[in-house]
Amino acid sequence: MSKKITAAITAVGGYVPEDKLTNFDLEKMVDTNDEWIRTRTGISERRILRGEGKATSDMVVPAVRQLCEKRGISPEEIDCLIVGTVTPDMVFPSTANIACDKLGAKNAWGFDVSAACSGFLYSLTQGAALIESGRYKKVVVCGADKMSAIVDYTDRATCIIFGDGAGAVLLEPNEEGYGIQDSILRSDGSGSNYLHMKAGGSLKPASIETVMAKEHFAYQEGQAVFKFAVKGMADVSAELLERNKLTGDDIAWLVPHQANLRIIDATASRMGLPKEKVMINIEKYGNTTAGTIPLCLWEWESRLNKGDNIVLAAFGGGFTWGATLVKWAYTV
Ligand code: UT7
Repeated sequence: MSKKITAAITAVGGYVPEDKLTNFDLEKMVDTNDEWIRTRTGISERRILRGEGKATSDMVVPAVRQLCEKRGISPEEIDCLIVGTVTPDMVFPSTANIACDKLGAKNAWGFDVSAACSGFLYSLTQGAALIESGRYKKVVVCGADKMSAIVDYTDRATCIIFGDGAGAVLLEPNEEGYGIQDSILRSDGSGSNYLHMKAGGSLKPASIETVMAKEHFAYQEGQAVFKFAVKGMADVSAELLERNKLTGDDIAWLVPHQANLRIIDATASRMGLPKEKVMINIEKYGNTTAGTIPLCLWEWESRLNKGDNIVLAAFGGGFTWGATLVKWAYTV
C-alpha cells in the first residue's frame, strides 16, 4: 500500500524593498508620533516599494527566485504558483500569471487568492491539497502585498500599520509525515463593512467621483477589526491545538500575522506560549498583509529544526481567519 503524501515546506524565500518609512517620517506626513505608533501597534518602520512600474509581482519574483536557488531548482520545474494578495498588479490577469512569465516558470499554471491578511494561509491550504492529491510535485505558495499602493497617507489611523513585502514557500510531497498537518480556515463576509476598498470593483467601478472621494484606498474601522481579530485568531489557534491533542508545550513556534503586537500577545497567551516562542518582526516591516507569515518563516528559517511543530495564525479583511499546523521538514 502506498504511503500517505503530505505537503512539506522544503524552501523559503523572501523579499522586502530597501526603502524604509519610519515612524518619524510619518510624523511629518500626518498628526501622529513615534511613541503612539510603537505603544499601540509595536511598529517602528515599514518597507515601501518605490519606483515607477513596480508592482506586487516585482516582489514575488525575487522571493521565488531565492527559494529556487536555495532548493537548487529552476523556475521551469515549478508546477503551480499561488499568490495570496489584495494588491494584484492588475484586476486581471492574475499576479501569479504575470510573475510566472517574469520568472521563466514556463511549465507552471497559477492563480491569485484574495483573502487579505489570511491570503497566505488560504493559499497554503490550497497548495497543500494540490500536493496531497499526488498530481503536482512542486507548488510555490506566496503571500505578497504592495499595501503602499492602496494606503491613504492622510489617514493616520490606517497608514501607520501597513508596509510592502513578499514571502514564498516551496511545497513538495513527503512520505514521512512532515509538512502541513491540519488547517482550520474561516470566513465571515458580514465583516466586510469594517475593512474593504469601496470602489474599483464591479459594485462601484472607478470614476472621477470615486477617485475624488478616496474610495480606492483601504478603508478600515480599526477598533472593530481589532476586537474581532483578538478573538478570532486566538480562538482558532486554541481550537487547532485541541483538535490535534497538543498543548503550548508541544509547539516550537507560533507564526502570527503581524497586524498589531497586542493581537499577537493575546493569541500567544491563549495558547500558553511564552514570548520566546513567537515570531515577531512587526517592528521592522509593519503589516504586509499576505506577506507577514512567510516573511517570518524567511527570517527564522535558520532557527527552525526538522520535526518542530509550528502554528501559523492569521486574521484579516473579509473577515477571513485561520490557523495551520506544520511539522517542519528540514534543518538548514
Ligand atoms: O491586518 C489585519 C486587519 N487589521 C488589523 O488587525 C488592525 C486592527 N486594529 C488596530 O490594530 C488598531 O485599531 C489601530 C492600530 C489601527 C488603531 O489603534 P486603536 O488603539 O484601536 O486606536 P483608535 O482607532 O481607537 O484611536 C484611539 C485614539 C483616537 O483619538 P480619540 O478619539 O481617543 O481622541 C484616534 O483619533 O487615537 C487616535 N489616533 C491616533 N493618534 C495618534 C488614531 N490614529 C492615531 C495615530 N497617531 N496614528
